[in-house]
Amino acid sequence: MKIVITGALGYIGSKLIQEIQKKIPRARLILIDNLMTRNQASLSDLPGHVPYEFHKIDVLHDDLSPYFQDAQFAVHLAAAVDPQNYPTENLSNHRMTQRVAEECLKNHTTLIFPSTTSVYGVSHPHLCESEDSNTVHPQTPYAHDKRISELYFHGLAAEGLRFVIFRFATIFGVSPGLRYQTAIGKFCQDAVMNHQIAVWSSALHQYRPYLDLEDAVQAILFALTNQLDTGEIFNLASLHATAKEVLDLIACSASFETKLVPSPLMNNLSYQISCEKICRKGFVFRGNLEAGIRDTIDVLRYQESDLFNKNRV
Ligand SMILES: NC(=O)c1ccc[n+]([C@@H]2O[C@H](COP(=O)([O-])OP(=O)(O)OC[C@H]3O[C@@H](n4cnc5c(N)ncnc54)[C@H](O)[C@@H]3O)[C@@H](O)[C@H]2O)c1
Repeated sequence: MKIVITGALGYIGSKLIQEIQKKIPRARLILIDNLMTRNQASLSDLPGHVPYEFHKIDVLHDDLSPYFQDAQFAVHLAAAVDPQNYPTENLSNHRMTQRVAEECLKNHTTLIFPSTTSVYGVSHPHLCESEDSNTVHPQTPYAHDKRISELYFHGLAAEGLRFVIFRFATIFGVSPGLRYQTAIGKFCQDAVMNHQIAVWSSALHQYRPYLDLEDAVQAILFALTNQLDTGEIFNLASLHATAKEVLDLIACSASFETKLVPSPLMNNLSYQISCEKICRKGFVFRGNLEAGIRDTIDVLRYQESDLFNKNRV
């Protein structure tokens, strides 16, 4: 089975390509990444027997057609995700997604797309996979791009596009392409490197959804093994936690001070999502926040001591 993975060397992709063979032994992987996040080392961590081709390709500009021929699935993970360096060129993530969706349509490839729970821009205790503009109300350019892509897929369904959309909560956990830009990773990094965590004052007691990377990868594998209907959206969160609960868990492994800072208005939300829809399909969440935080701090400590030893040589 031929599977194209864009953004294959990123945080999610580098974990997915390690796990895929266990569930799909006959997978033939076409891995695409422009190395923007410089994670080439993720390829050296692959189990030796995984048949893959790697192509250094820019999804926004290069010709994609040679890679999609005869592909049964495409997992489109390539995107600019750093909120500090979000593309000033508005909708460039969506343009990448459009180009991938067009190839999928041409080649009858089923597209698996990671959207975000940030498309829900309201404070709510139980958000379902709604299409209702009262709850689906993106507040940031990143979330807005994701919503535009969701709507675009629904438009192409009439022409035959097969797709599954996951609305991922903020992911935590360790992978070869681990980065520290999302909430829990950033908190862990600040605790270990700076011994101080800056938290938005309003966020301290607000609930947000989080997704264990293991659960994110297992959900993609669930879709790759045809266990989800095409044209559907699924919320994905392993758990909900407040910043205070996250900080308390980090404090079990690292010592730090908490600094409360004023919060930006557009992120001033407490919300929880419902994942009943995917659970009804038989998907089981196994995520563990305590273990995810502990593992992240272990990796950070290892990186810190590695750097220290290199500087001494
Ligand atoms: N990590 C999360 O918490 C989270 C939550 C919700 C949704 N998502 C979505 O999941 C997807 C993957 O996220 P991630 O955390 O693995 O991000 P990441 O930044 O770690 O990985 C993205 C990869 O895409 C590559 N890339 C970027 N632009 C490219 C281009 N033009 N051409 C080819 N490759 C390109 C990068 O080099 C990188 O390896 C993104 O669409 C992201 O929005 C992530």
